Amino acid sequence: MAGRIPQAFIDDLLERVDIVEVIDRRLPLKKSGRNYSARCPFHEEKTPSFSVSPDKQFFYCFGCGAGGNAIGFVMDFDRVDFPQAVETVATLAGLEVPREAQSEQAPQQQKRQRDLYQTLDAAARLYREHLRRHPQAKRAVDYLKDRGLTGAIARDFGIGYAPPGWDNLLQALGKDDSERALLLEAGMLVVKEEDNKTYDRFRDRIMFPIIDSRGRVIAFGGRVLSDEKPKYLNSPETPIFHKGRELYGLYQARKALRHLQRLVVVEGYMDVVALAQYGIRYAVATLGTATSTEHLQKVFRHCSEVIFCFDGDKAGRQAAKRALESALPVMEDGRQARFLFLPEGEDPDTLVRARGTETFERLLDGAQPLADYLFDSAGEGIDLNSLEGRARLSKLAAPMIGKLPSGVFQQLMLNALAQRTGLSNERLDALLKPAAPAKPSPKPNVKPLQRRPLPPRNEIHLHPILHAIGLLLLHPRLAQHAPPSNQFNHLSGETATLLRDLLDLLHKRPEANTNVLLGHWYDEPWRHRVEEAFNQVSLLLENVEQLNLAAEEGVESELTDTLKHLESSHIEMQLDSLLRKGSDLNAQEKQQIRQLLSQKDSKH
Ligand code: GTP
Ligand code: MN
Repeated sequence: MAGRIPQAFIDDLLERVDIVEVIDRRLPLKKSGRNYSARCPFHEEKTPSFSVSPDKQFFYCFGCGAGGNAIGFVMDFDRVDFPQAVETVATLAGLEVPREAQSEQAPQQQKRQRDLYQTLDAAARLYREHLRRHPQAKRAVDYLKDRGLTGAIARDFGIGYAPPGWDNLLQALGKDDSERALLLEAGMLVVKEEDNKTYDRFRDRIMFPIIDSRGRVIAFGGRVLSDEKPKYLNSPETPIFHKGRELYGLYQARKALRHLQRLVVVEGYMDVVALAQYGIRYAVATLGTATSTEHLQKVFRHCSEVIFCFDGDKAGRQAAKRALESALPVMEDGRQARFLFLPEGEDPDTLVRARGTETFERLLDGAQPLADYLFDSAGEGIDLNSLEGRARLSKLAAPMIGKLPSGVFQQLMLNALAQRTGLSNERLDALLKPAAPAKPSPKPNVKPLQRRPLPPRNEIHLHPILHAIGLLLLHPRLAQHAPPSNQFNHLSGETATLLRDLLDLLHKRPEANTNVLLGHWYDEPWRHRVEEAFNQVSLLLENVEQLNLAAEEGVESELTDTLKHLESSHIEMQLDSLLRKGSDLNAQEKQQIRQLLSQKDSKH
């Protein structure tokens, strides 16, 4: 496989192509003022709210929030991945896409991987074929029908059947040694210990192919048709399948919905499929493992809200606790996680079939926010009227809050805990990190960003870091007046890193326009953060423009204010905690306050 596409080429490409031309070939555009418009291809609408700006070289839909540059449009419209979209746009510009050189060994490894993908794809096709034509498939078809699955949904999820017998797959796809070696490496065969002979891993099972984000089959889950054990059998770990990372149904969800608002995490294959059949096409399942932080990072790359859906029994509550633990470190400001517990004896599959889509979505809408769930689960069985009870709650909840990334949300949680326990924030700070060996404790590692109210505008409220990013994306030239990125080193978290990267990039390439900037992160996990900031700020500015308030200077002072606020946020934070000590200050601390105050003045 080819190497990475050099970033410089992408930047160059985006400067050369005209987004109007790229889009117009796929979606006829009408000129309207300085921009072009059309009915949005990404959501149903009667009047056009899709707009393309030739000046800024980006598109934006005021109806659904879709937005991006030429490459992004091709990705979403043609439903192709990033390298493919670059190829398409490059062809239009008459350019050849260069690739970075690769190490010697890589091509062989990549060939091996490609062969594995092909093997698994062939197996998936065979299983689908068996479900339709195998003489013994009737039982499988009846089973699926009995469980209420339609043919259409079985097709969408590529469901198949592995018939009874020890060597159906082996006979069909393992004709020579090299094919058999591939089947084995792909996890489709099992080796018998006594004689080293191999046989099919999956026999007489309904087969659910597990598909990666690029649409490739990487493994299978197989369910028995009876009450036999084990009920489900999964592919083992292979070079292309790592169970703890994959989410069943994510590919289908992304394919069905261009803009994922939220993802629901359920426990089983059948739950994902049943929900999809009932129109809830945004459910994913872990593969019989606990929800890991890695899973959640994946989820948050695609949307900013996750709802965990658990059975109401003891096992479900246990699983929810583990999901909470995994979620804490990735709860950056702007992300949301909620918890839904189903009535005992129900799972999403049975519930949506019994009660219907609307009821199920209402349940999802009413799911418990992470904040409430954290206090509920930490406070389980604790009497908050007693002093001991409150001390116990703070001991249990504070370390959890300590795992949240520093930010507004963490600070709010700390305040909420202070309120519940009557302990001061300082006392709680000390509890944030799990008890460390007694040594002079450094300052607690909390950097709250106290949000200073920005000038009143409308209901859209953005985190200051996202706000700054969005403003810089839309008006890159304003970066000339912005401080260097190291002025923001005290801020932690993904968005803060993004802000620093953006400032560095703009100081290096002051001529970069919005389009180039959006392109810069297209292939990165950051992509949706960048787009989120961009979309929200576009919306914000659009509203302001409609009110005739927008002027370049207005935007400039807005950026300056936001950045100043971010720069001094750590000063404010330190000041705050010193001042809260009241009269207990020693000479050194008083000196520190004076210093902080003068630093603060010099920034404003
Ligand atoms: P159905 O009985 O088909 O509705 O399955 P379910 O999804 O409701 O089953 P359950 O809630 O028992 O299990 C949830 C998930 O756990 C499944 O989708 C599997 O991923 C996993 N799982 C369940 N049973 C087994 C098992 O016996 N072995 C393995 N490896 N995984 C299992
Ligand atoms: Mn079930």
